[in-house]
Amino acid sequence: MEKKSCLCEELWSELDNVIASKRGKPGALMQVLHWAQENIGYLPREVQVRVAEGLGVALSEVYGVATFYAFFSLKPKGKYQISCCKGTACYVRGAPQVLERFERELGVKAGDTTDDGMFSLEVVRCLGACGLSPVITVNKDTHARMKADLVPGILSKYRKAELASETA
Ligand code: FES
Repeated sequence: MEKKSCLCEELWSELDNVIASKRGKPGALMQVLHWAQENIGYLPREVQVRVAEGLGVALSEVYGVATFYAFFSLKPKGKYQISCCKGTACYVRGAPQVLERFERELGVKAGDTTDDGMFSLEVVRCLGACGLSPVITVNKDTHARMKADLVPGILSKYRKAELASETA
């Protein structure tokens, strides 16, 4: 199914149908939240409330699951999705310092999105380019042999691209 960007009536109604089809079944909460994450793109509070009421579970339980698993996000993903590899090869070559610098520069922790909606930051386990470690990706761009000092320049490149597209 195509991903939709708004919580329109159609999407609410699809969510209600998914809830109804899973209600009372084992693993219903995870399955409904997966559906919502994939089709809505994130799990805002109003969706959590709808899921809790629809499945007859506590809102705190829904929130607990939504915040426990890295797959779920409470905010929409940023325009630029930064994935920092913390697989073994990247880890031993300085990935933790790279991630820490992204967190500091962006003012968010891994798993979060900047308030302006520009960047999301996530940790992944091996991007399949261990020979180029440490590696990060920004959307489809790969940045190899990363160092913490390269982080500000990379962010500024995407910020400039964004400004250029706004003024074009
Ligand atoms: S461990 Fe990072 S790319 Fe494989």
